[in-house]
Amino acid sequence: SVSEPLKVMISGAPASGKGTQCELIVQKYGLVHISTGDLLRAEVSSGTEIGNKAKEFMNAGRLVPDEIVTAMVTSRLSRADAKERGWLLDGYPRSFAQAQILEELKINPDVYIVLDVPDETLIDRCIGRRLDPITGKIYHLKSFPPETEEIKARLVTRPDDTEEKVKSRLEIYNKNAEAILSTYSKIMKRVDGNRSKDVVFKEIDSLLSQVQKDKEKPMKSE
Ligand code: AP5
Repeated sequence: SVSEPLKVMISGAPASGKGTQCELIVQKYGLVHISTGDLLRAEVSSGTEIGNKAKEFMNAGRLVPDEIVTAMVTSRLSRADAKERGWLLDGYPRSFAQAQILEELKINPDVYIVLDVPDETLIDRCIGRRLDPITGKIYHLKSFPPETEEIKARLVTRPDDTEEKVKSRLEIYNKNAEAILSTYSKIMKRVDGNRSKDVVFKEIDSLLSQVQKDKEKPMKSE
């Protein structure tokens, strides 16, 4: 049986560990990682028109307007690599409108993973988070300190990672979460993200290999 590549969505509150788990998923499954946050941050740092528009919303911890993000995501999804290797969509959809657009375009994931982490933990994770601008790797001052002094010296903090902005991002997430879930309730899998990253990945890994196996089953109607 020939199997279609995996199509995965990962969701969860700010700092629930989406980016961290995506690094591990990509290593094992070779999916094309499409993170709207990363794509937007790249636009901001290269000073493009999209970046200039998105910047004020992102720095305030608010959502960037749907039309900007949607155009970015659909054009990335339509590229050959995403079709051949499968995709891992991280940070989109983030509103009911965004979920509806994907439905209209018949872009349907095989599985919708939600990382559950309590609010107190999320704030601590954001405040300690640091990014390596060269490799894109995600660190945490306490949980995942950088490997070398050289990396440590170049780490950066995200402008939206202050306690106040994290709270506002969290509020926006909670306001939208329910409505998005209604679109994906049949394929939703909740994962307890408040455990070590390897334990969380183990669960995601077994979940994804099951989804992959199910896709390989020959069609009954053949
Ligand atoms: P985005 O970049 O998507 O931000 P987010 O959803 O708030 O998620 P984060 O990147 O903060 O966290 P994460 O879940 O990836 O956690 P991470 O792995 O880094 O979006 C940023 C902004 O862009 C938005 O606010 C909005 O303005 C805009 N935007 C993006 N998409 C949009 C859309 N669709 N529509 C409109 N606007 C959009 O982990 C966090 C920290 O915790 C790290 O330090 C990590 O090392 C640590 N950590 C991770 N896992 C563990 C663990 N198991 N144990 C202990 N520590 C851990």
